[in-house]
Amino acid sequence: MVDANLGLLRGEGGLHFIAWGITGSGSFMRESFGVLKRIKEKHGVKITTYMSKAGEEVARMYGILDRIGDISPGNHYEEVITEEVAGASCTYSGRFMLGRYGLLVIAPATSNTVAKIVYGISDSIVTTITSQALKGGVPVVVLPSDVTEETEVPCYIDREVCTNCMECLNRCPYGAIRELDGVPVLDLTRCHGCRVCELTCPENAIHCFQKARIKIRELDRRNIEALRRVEGVTVVDDPDQLEDTIVHILSLPI
Ligand SMILES: Cc1cc2nc3c(=O)[nH]c(=O)nc-3n(C[C@H](O)[C@H](O)[C@H](O)COP(=O)(O)O)c2cc1C
Repeated sequence: MVDANLGLLRGEGGLHFIAWGITGSGSFMRESFGVLKRIKEKHGVKITTYMSKAGEEVARMYGILDRIGDISPGNHYEEVITEEVAGASCTYSGRFMLGRYGLLVIAPATSNTVAKIVYGISDSIVTTITSQALKGGVPVVVLPSDVTEETEVPCYIDREVCTNCMECLNRCPYGAIRELDGVPVLDLTRCHGCRVCELTCPENAIHCFQKARIKIRELDRRNIEALRRVEGVTVVDDPDQLEDTIVHILSLPI
């Protein structure tokens, strides 16, 4: 279950410091949050959260951004670090080079981020800390979005059912729904995934986090296989395996 690569490049940092990289994937977004929250609660580790720009947006849409303080409350090594905070060069990279973290978890990882890691591209906060982690001997565990055909879609208004009563406009605490040509339109960039619209819609026309199926591209399959062969990286195939793998790494002697 645990990749044979694991351990070859283990860093010297204490395993009680974990870095968590979030990218802009709806697949496994809410499950990954659940795993990291349980790990923090059960194992008392400190977790720094690093978010790509898309990761920040998608985490917001799935209701995770407003709960991120449960995992990274803002103390030293428990910060939430965005692209805006870290800058283009990722000023926090030194932590990885110096082996401050015992582990970097990237969950969920978009097909974009997986492809970049495979080719050594580091132009976002998550791909940059991955490069630095691998150069600094910090093991990296990745949960790619494209290991599954099942995904979760953010909140949407079902036009077939909606009667355009506009009740949701008043209910949304974030002003994410506005009227356009007589119909309510949800602006996902302002949505916090709080589900108030879904719970209060009198017609039951709004749905959040419904399951949907997507096709996995052959290109993404190949990239995930290539990622499995990257030294220092362990690829996991579902959230349960993610949790087991992190727990296993935490149990290894430093
Ligand atoms: C609601 C939503 C869900 C998304 N889900 C996925 C996904 O599951 N997998 C994926 O590869 N990209 C997904 N994307 C697209 C990525 O966010 C987009 O490719 C982005 O550029 C990735 O950047 P990053 O890898 O730096 O986070 C989603 C986008 C949105 C708006």
